[in-house]
Amino acid sequence: VLIEPIQGEAGVLIPDDGYLAGVRELTRRKGCLFVADEIQSGLGRTGHTLAVEHESVVPDVVLLGKALGGGIVPVSAVVGRRDVLGVLHPGEHGSTFGGNPLAAAVGTAVVELLETGEFQRRAAELGAVLREGLAALAGKGVVGFRARGLWAGVDVDPALGTGREVSERLMREGVLVKDTHGSTIRLAPPLTVTADELAGALGTLEKVLASS
Ligand SMILES: Cc1ncc(COP(=O)(O)O)c(C=O)c1O
Repeated sequence: VLIEPIQGEAGVLIPDDGYLAGVRELTRRKGCLFVADEIQSGLGRTGHTLAVEHESVVPDVVLLGKALGGGIVPVSAVVGRRDVLGVLHPGEHGSTFGGNPLAAAVGTAVVELLETGEFQRRAAELGAVLREGLAALAGKGVVGFRARGLWAGVDVDPALGTGREVSERLMREGVLVKDTHGSTIRLAPPLTVTADELAGALGTLEKVLASS
């Protein structure tokens, strides 16, 4: 079973409490692997190193990417127990750009940065600020949102424009977000963002929605 613990591209869709734990139990019972695609949700973004930790779930395999490269180099990783990944032996699986020394060094540095828990804590604490700020925009152009840690999917009133249009207006004001489908935008600020910067971005979102 391959699953994104929180669906990013779909608009930061968070499953109901107990869903991931239920999938884990089912896969264990049926003897199949639970592969968690944490390419967007992983590495501190949601307030834990991995999003599955919110339900104390331990997958058999975890997929990592994006933040693993520190925003600098393209690198991804498949992480798993020795008895699972051990089915592949050296030379059986190749990749043109795999094993790039610079990318491997950056990926290792990112993992080391996460060891103290500082960035996970920041994501959890500032995530509360982000949630409060978005809740205050209800009725001011925001018709719904889902947030966990420093990650949010925000549904904008379709009358104000598509997610793409709102994203472009925000970009012109210096705030980078990513549209998903329809009138949804996705906020995923760097985990180094300050409370002031976050408040500034939320203020810009309010201004952009008010003038749309
Ligand atoms: C959740 C998720 N899984 C997988 C991928 C694909 O990763 P890659 O571009 O390294 O193939 C992406 C890329 O955007 C993604 O967001």
